[in-house]
Amino acid sequence: MIVTTKKLFEAAYGKYAIGAYNINNLEQTMGLFRGNLMSEAPFIIQISKGARSYTDKRMLQALIKAADEVFPEAIFAVHLDHGDEETCYDCINSGFYSSVMIDASHESFEENIAITKRVVDAAHAKGIVVEAELGQLGGVEEHIQVSEDEARLTNPDQAKEFVERSGCDSLAVAIGTSHGAFKFSGSQSLHFDVLSEIQKELPNYPLVMHGSSSVPQEEVARINKAGGKLEGARGVDASQFKQAAKLGVTKINIDTDGRLVWTRVHREHFLEHPENFDLRKPGIVFMEEYAKFIADKNDKLGSSGQLDEVRKMIG
Ligand code: 13P
Repeated sequence: MIVTTKKLFEAAYGKYAIGAYNINNLEQTMGLFRGNLMSEAPFIIQISKGARSYTDKRMLQALIKAADEVFPEAIFAVHLDHGDEETCYDCINSGFYSSVMIDASHESFEENIAITKRVVDAAHAKGIVVEAELGQLGGVEEHIQVSEDEARLTNPDQAKEFVERSGCDSLAVAIGTSHGAFKFSGSQSLHFDVLSEIQKELPNYPLVMHGSSSVPQEEVARINKAGGKLEGARGVDASQFKQAAKLGVTKINIDTDGRLVWTRVHREHFLEHPENFDLRKPGIVFMEEYAKFIADKNDKLGSSGQLDEVRKMIG
């Protein structure tokens, strides 16, 4: 069942965070639904601009609609990740997405508010909710590349004004994470002090943490052993997720870790089975491994076992 992120956030606020997972294809879709049902968790499907144009935006939409029928117990939101204004309107008018992110965080404070407000007005008119971003994460997220020098943490004093004036339903905050597999090249970690200040300014308001893959070191080691070149890759300490949830983070974005599972499965498969040319063989392994990965991540987010509560709340 497709719901808005707003509904999910009402259930989760202050207790746990909902996993927001980026998908691009059939195998990820199957693994995602299986993993969330295995761990009985509500979840958010994220579709980026890149994922929409990987084949045709209607393909992923049709896959998700089919998965909704195949797995009728699943409760999830369908969310546009890092949208520009035009893509937001396209998703709002699609009748499919329940939530969009407008990312105008690279603009000035005033321009970010103005753009976000336009998207909020259009989305709310159709019952769709909006995530916006204030502050800037470092790293690479498909078409967006931000150097460490350009990255800046969210200013807690500006956060309240931004939310009030733009009307956005949730806010992505920059608290030290970055996109991609190479985080924390310095000695950074999460800035819980900043997060706590933001929560004081915006009590009971859902916050979002982007760039939250953990880049598990055993995964990186297996990829490198099977011919990969990911030396120095590292990520966020997943044991900090629950602390972040207590401070108002209700949505945690994870993309890179899923890509690492795909890379490890396929590298190892073809190394061990050089004679194979049947794409379904590694595909079957990947779907299983991806489902296990999702279930394990949900345990760390605290969303495992919450599906029944959410179902009762939705009624
Ligand atoms: P990661 O690169 O850490 O997985 O972050 C993904 C993300 O924030 C998508 O919006």
